[in-house]
Amino acid sequence: MTPIGIDDIELATTHHVVRLDDFAEVNGTDPNKFRLGLGQDEFSFPAPDEDIVTMAAAAAAPIIERSGTEGIRTMLFATESGTDQSKAAGMAVHSLLELPSQMRIIEVKEACYSATAALQAAVGIVTRSPGQRVLVIASDVARYELDTAGEPTQGAGAVAMLVSANPRLLEIEPVSGLNSADVDDFWRPNDSTTAIVDGALSVTAYLDSLTGAWNDLQTQDGPGIDEIDRILYHQPFTKMAKKAQVHLAGLTGAVLDTEIVAGAQTASASDPRDTGLAASTLYNRRLGNSYTASLYAGLCSLLDHDSDLAGRRIGLFSYGSGSVGEFFTARVVPGYEQHSHRETVTAALDARVPLSIDEYRALHATELPSAEDVSTPKVTAGPFRFAGVTGRARVYERS
Ligand code: COA
Repeated sequence: MTPIGIDDIELATTHHVVRLDDFAEVNGTDPNKFRLGLGQDEFSFPAPDEDIVTMAAAAAAPIIERSGTEGIRTMLFATESGTDQSKAAGMAVHSLLELPSQMRIIEVKEACYSATAALQAAVGIVTRSPGQRVLVIASDVARYELDTAGEPTQGAGAVAMLVSANPRLLEIEPVSGLNSADVDDFWRPNDSTTAIVDGALSVTAYLDSLTGAWNDLQTQDGPGIDEIDRILYHQPFTKMAKKAQVHLAGLTGAVLDTEIVAGAQTASASDPRDTGLAASTLYNRRLGNSYTASLYAGLCSLLDHDSDLAGRRIGLFSYGSGSVGEFFTARVVPGYEQHSHRETVTAALDARVPLSIDEYRALHATELPSAEDVSTPKVTAGPFRFAGVTGRARVYERS
């Protein structure tokens, strides 16, 4: 069978960053609450002229520059933070990147899970037409109310992936474990720019979903825990990946690494297996939550920081509140390390402009007027910008 999977991947984020040490100082909180308790150091925050479209276009542009548009007839845009109730955000990306007219473009939604549904749909399209390639983009701005428990776990980022036959990075395997349950752990009503979350429930709902998806993977004759070399989890905050790993170890009886900080694992009589937990959390510690993009930012981090992945099987657990969980597996293609973006991603994270807590709170509170034309200030140093609203339509341009 022709292998199908991720041929190219890129991560993009925002112009600004909020440092959780600054946040802790202003709030009178112990900084270790964030560094160790949540496993977060910083979070990306959009400038007034940035949003899910500008990040998505910035992530997809280098992929298109490298491999052109031939065979790309579909773009699937996964997001929780859509900018319109009707028009897919991908239409603006299509225009900014000057993609061909002969394409179908849609937006998909299910909290932090939808990028995985998009990825599986892309695999299905390429299975039917192996000459086609599908652009899958996950892009989100994670926003909670100020002064809530979720606030320090905000963040923003986009991951663009090109799905093709004979991919150069990851071959996606056919079996998935699935789990859906109607639960109000996190949602965002149509009139709200911030999510409503029952934090404690969202953690247990995530772990219950992991149980259901893992058990289903076994029922579907998917690989057992000893046949999976690395494990990636959705990371709303990176400590959640540790909680998930402890949970999966309990479910399977396997002895797995549970430290999210590299080198922190203590040796014991039964040394845990290195499943890449620390390597997969490096980018998300700095991005914050990027909802649909978070699992795939974890994938970028693993591919860029683990030099021993060739031929290895990765297990990926995707979770979206509400809720859907999916546990699927993929094989890393030898030669993957030649496509590392470690230097560019690290440079982009380092280049973000820090906001003081006062500046961040003022930006967070800024809302676009809903009925008037508005121009946004030129702030972002990224390649694309959200220029404002004209006649209630959002306008984008190259910077
Ligand atoms: N040093 C080290 N760790 C500390 C600490 C300190 N000074 N102070 C607190 N902590 C630890 C706590 O022990 C706790 O660890 P644990 O999770 O292993 O028990 C952790 O920090 C979190 O603190 P806690 O007070 O329990 O929770 P919180 O009020 O910070 O809320 C969430 C945590 C996840 C509920 C909150 O961030 C949230 O609502 N996030 C959005 C929803 C979300 O991401 N859900 C995840 C599933 S989708």
